[in-house]
Amino acid sequence: MRKFEGEKIVLATHNAGKLEEIRGLIGPLGIEVVSAGELGLPEPPENGVTFEENAATKADAASMATGLVALSDDSGIVVDALDGAPGVYTADWAEKEDGSRDFGMAMQKVEDALSEANATEPEQRTARFVSVLCMRWPDGHREYFRGEAEGQLIWPPRGTSGFGYDPVFKPNGYDVTFGEMTAEEKHGWKPGDEHALSHRARAFKLFAETCLDL
Ligand code: IMP
Repeated sequence: MRKFEGEKIVLATHNAGKLEEIRGLIGPLGIEVVSAGELGLPEPPENGVTFEENAATKADAASMATGLVALSDDSGIVVDALDGAPGVYTADWAEKEDGSRDFGMAMQKVEDALSEANATEPEQRTARFVSVLCMRWPDGHREYFRGEAEGQLIWPPRGTSGFGYDPVFKPNGYDVTFGEMTAEEKHGWKPGDEHALSHRARAFKLFAETCLDL
């Protein structure tokens, strides 16, 4: 496991919601961050069939373009009644014909698929968010960190916080959705804490412990 010794990281993302979350998580650690989107780097095509493959693709592209250590996140929602869909294709389910993304439409698509599968009872609507972080050094070395958050899909969507599928995801043990939580509540973690709530904060905790000794 390699430690991060530098002062600056490029966040390999063009997703504003993810960027805001990762900035919030990384902020207290005193690392300077710049994002691939802010630098105007092209978004590499995600052709992988695993979260790890796509996370590596994004981190490789940002690290090679900048010469910096890159941190990427590939994530999605895995729905049990849909045999794991949308999974690595979560962002694709939101894609409209003009190339823009509409997560209201994507949440509706998941709901329609659950109705078709007759998944109406809460216990038939189990799902997990997955986040795989990839830290990639300019010499090609990579470290991966995976976080998962278990919960249930609710309908109709609730809350306006967060991004993507947050308004339909109720983590186990809570009566509110991620969309009804503040960013701090959704992470449920700050450096040094024993437990984290969101998939991204869980992966981030592993990253901080492994690469930063926190
Ligand atoms: P990708 O990692 O760029 O392939 O995109 C993953 C997609 O999963 C995002 O566009 C979101 O729709 C969804 N997603 C990942 N993490 C979260 C989250 O924390 N909340 C809500 N949606 C998420």
